[in-house]
Amino acid sequence: MHDLVFRNVNLLDGLGNEAFAGDLAVSDGRIAQIGDVGAGAKEIDGRGAYLAPGFIDTHAHDDGAFLRYPGMEFKLAQGVTSVVSGNCGFSAVPADPTKNSVAASGGILAGLEGEFTDLEGYFGAVLERSPAINNMMLVGHNTVRSLVMDDEKRAPTSAELSKMQGFVSKALEQGACGFSSGLIYRPGRYSDTEEVIELAKMAAPYEALYTTHMRNEGDKLLEAVDESLHIGKSSGVHLHISHHKSAGKPNWGKVKESLRKVDAALLAGQRVTLDVYPYTAGSGRMIEYFNLDRPNLELAEVIRIASCPAFRQYEGRMLSDIAQEKGLSLEDAVRHVLTAPKGQHTICIHFIIDEQDIETNLAHADMMVGSDGIPDLRGRPHPRLFGTFPRVLGHYVRTRGVLSLPQAVRRMTSVSATTFGMLERGVLKAGYWADLVLFDPATVIDKATYDDPKQEPEGIHAVVVNGKLALRNGKHTGVGSGAMLRYRKTAY
Ligand code: ZN
Ligand code: CU
Repeated sequence: MHDLVFRNVNLLDGLGNEAFAGDLAVSDGRIAQIGDVGAGAKEIDGRGAYLAPGFIDTHAHDDGAFLRYPGMEFKLAQGVTSVVSGNCGFSAVPADPTKNSVAASGGILAGLEGEFTDLEGYFGAVLERSPAINNMMLVGHNTVRSLVMDDEKRAPTSAELSKMQGFVSKALEQGACGFSSGLIYRPGRYSDTEEVIELAKMAAPYEALYTTHMRNEGDKLLEAVDESLHIGKSSGVHLHISHHKSAGKPNWGKVKESLRKVDAALLAGQRVTLDVYPYTAGSGRMIEYFNLDRPNLELAEVIRIASCPAFRQYEGRMLSDIAQEKGLSLEDAVRHVLTAPKGQHTICIHFIIDEQDIETNLAHADMMVGSDGIPDLRGRPHPRLFGTFPRVLGHYVRTRGVLSLPQAVRRMTSVSATTFGMLERGVLKAGYWADLVLFDPATVIDKATYDDPKQEPEGIHAVVVNGKLALRNGKHTGVGSGAMLRYRKTAY
């Protein structure tokens, strides 16, 4: 007798093949049988819905969320069963419990607390809380650099560099899938290309990744792509470009040129991959985008406040409206928010991306999907936190036809699992871990909006994580069967 059987479903294998009708059985956490299967202790009639491998969020900032919200409802409800955390150079580890890494990350690591110092310790702390989904980790440049050099605006000494290399190596040894950078952020922006190469090199012996939030995503996007390709090549490491976009109206359309550069590198034999989120707004720490002496007014114009511990009443409002209400110039409104106590922790949403560029990105072969959701649930987070995957399936596949359903599922499952070294996941295959999502391609859609962002999507009927039902009929079961994943190795 199997533990769980799905009957009357269309199976999407995650490899890009067309769906086929059949049943699927789960036993001992793994897919036991596909096709014609025996009885299950629990049976679910799929009524013609589609069963696919659980979606993989390649770009998450859930390091702190796994401790603060172990139910991970905002991801689970999208059909996401695994995430890659530690992106944009900010990661839970290495950590010094006597220092405040949440503050150093400007809120991106919100929720992070505990006595751990390394990846094993962090994974242990998360597992104690029985997380609902799986987590793979990157080790972040900004985090490592703050720990070793605080906020120094200079190149590291050779002693500092080897200390940083030691932290990166240790995390990789303990199972991180790579080294991430966020070169627009502090303190990553103070580093030169050489420093990043020397750190990325640590990933080479593990055949792990270098993922990057590039130094520039707007006026100097193409230069930043060149720098990233150079870092990948010089360090001999697989380069993954995070949330590929061209920011700011004058730059719209540039993603085509930047994808051409990536294609050329691929042709030349370099390993390069990318991900994108399906929204025209970005989101991040507001302080990073403004020079307080001369705030960029064009940007200030399109800023909306997501979460703001200094002024909760501003959450969900456009900065320009706040300025008007307060009788402030837009410049002064920027300063008003950012110079208040805790103002530096403000997370903003900025409308900077062209819709056509999103479609260009999604149409690119093997483009993966990463939410880049910042899991601070106290304010009004960017809707990508709750809506990314159903939005790709409902809007870009069903309504816009930018890519086919089997291809979209492939890019959200097997391509991501292979790239990020998630062993025996991402494909419907007997013997693989039973991470599954049952959904209806005709109705699946995101419900989260900028005004009302904490809305779970529709059309996701059931989610299974490591063989256990984590979501059924829109209800979270609270089982907590998530695992902490190690790159190309068995999970913790
Ligand atoms: Zn980023
Ligand atoms: Cu990010």
